[in-house]
This record gives sequence, C-alpha cells and structure tokens, in this order.
Amino acid sequence: MKTKTKIKQSFDKGSSSYESNCDIQRLICHQLVNFFFERKEKITLSKDIKGLDLGAGNGILSFELLKFIKFEKLHLIDFSDKMLDLAKKKIKQSFVTYEVKDFENLNEIEKFNFIFSNMSLHWSKNFNVLLKKLLEKISNNTLLFFSIPNSIYFEKKEPFYNFDNLMNKFPDIKNLLNQLDKNKYFLESKNITFKENFNNLFSFFYKLRSIGANVNTENKKKSLIRLRKQKTKLSVFYNINFVLIKKL
Ligand SMILES: C[S@@+](CC[C@H](N)C(=O)[O-])C[C@H]1O[C@@H](n2cnc3c(N)ncnc32)[C@H](O)[C@@H]1O
Repeated sequence: MKTKTKIKQSFDKGSSSYESNCDIQRLICHQLVNFFFERKEKITLSKDIKGLDLGAGNGILSFELLKFIKFEKLHLIDFSDKMLDLAKKKIKQSFVTYEVKDFENLNEIEKFNFIFSNMSLHWSKNFNVLLKKLLEKISNNTLLFFSIPNSIYFEKKEPFYNFDNLMNKFPDIKNLLNQLDKNKYFLESKNITFKENFNNLFSFFYKLRSIGANVNTENKKKSLIRLRKQKTKLSVFYNINFVLIKKL
C-alpha cells in the first residue's frame, strides 16, 4: 500500500478517539494562535479575509481563529473525510466550506490570503517541495502560518533498545527558512518544546496510534510488541517550530 494511503487510513481510523487524545496537538494549536497574535502588529491583515486550513482535521485551529478573526470565507481541507467530519460537527457557520482533498494537489491557492495549518504539513511526501510551491503560488500580501515538529526526543532512566528506528524524520525547516528571499517574504519563527510524561514507551506509541499519527513514513520495520518489555517511566519532548510568512 502507498504511504499516503496508509496515512489517510490511519487518520480515518484515529478520528474516533482523536478528540479525547489530541491534548498535545491542542496545546500546540493554542501556542500557534498566540504566536500569530503576538506578531499581528507587524503585519497588516486584509479586510476581506479568505482563510484556508490545510490538514484541518478536527478543525481546532479554525475553531480558535474564528473566535478572533472575521472571515469573509473559510475553507477547511483534509484528505481524511472522517477527520473532516469532526470539524463539521464543531464549525457550522454558513461562510465555512469543507473539502476532502490532498493539500499537495491544491489548485486556485491564490484565491486565499490567510493560510494556516497545525501539525499537518510534515505528513506531506516532500515538505520542501510543498512549501516552495505554496510560496510561489500564493498572491502578494498573503499570510501563511503553521506549526510543524522539528524533533521528538525522550528522557528516560534506562537506555531503550534500538529506539531510533521507530520515529519518522521531520523536515529540516530551519535550513529551508534560511534560504527564503527576505526581500520577497517577511518571516518570523519560534521554537517551543512541550513535555509529556508516560508510564512507559509503549503508552507513548499507543497514544500516537489512538489519534492515527503512528504511520511509519520511511517503511522501516517496527514492532511495538517488544516495547511492552520497557517498563520505565519517561518524558517525551516535542520540539515544535512556529512559522509565519507573508509574501510581500
Ligand atoms: C495530527 S492531525 C492535525 C489535525 C488538526 N490540524 C489539529 O490541529 O489537531 C494531521 C491531519 O493532517 C491530515 N493530512 C495528512 N496528510 C495530508 C494530505 N496530504 N492532505 C490533506 N490532509 C492531510 C490528516 O488526515 C490529519 O487530519
């Protein structure tokens, strides 16, 4: 099965327990909203805000932004229809529309001037290509802001067996942002590390699986069964990048 199909199916499946297990995604979402509003003075918001939520999932980021921003229209896209159903339950305003779509095959992106995403873009096949395409296609004065993991690491009392194999690699966002032409784009970014405690390594992976975020994108062989033997308590650190870009 293709990796993308696996990711879609995994989020379809995770949708039933996403709301009760997405506490880290929710925390990150609130920090992304803070990150954006802390910088609001530096950017001028257009009067007719046409929003686009990429990988909207349960719609949490749109839901939070709707509390503060007057949208003319808002479009939520996700390739998991089941995840998008969660958003439909949450957001019912008439100017809000939904579409089951892969964010790597977007067209008419220039119609939107306020584009955002929480914890979704790293699931793309090639994040560098996606970001470059987005930046090229969006119209001038469009805002793009998102959160994306940089790394996930562990603090543990005893060493784990061959652990590296179990985690996906995240995009090298710092390098990518360094290459951005500052004459064409206004850029602000920030890193925040979030900590979550688990009773053992298996509970961490079990939680990832419960929200559908456990697909191994590098097709490495992994067996969670042997993790059951790891009984040590551990802290998981999620290092997240917050990025705001405006095309000048
Ligand atoms: C971790 S969830 C985040 C959902 C939501 N934004 C939040 O903050 O909780 C990742 C979402 O990205 C979606 N996704 C992953 N790859 C996608 C793609 N190529 N096109 C559209 N949606 C995608 C998944 O279906 C899932 O709903």
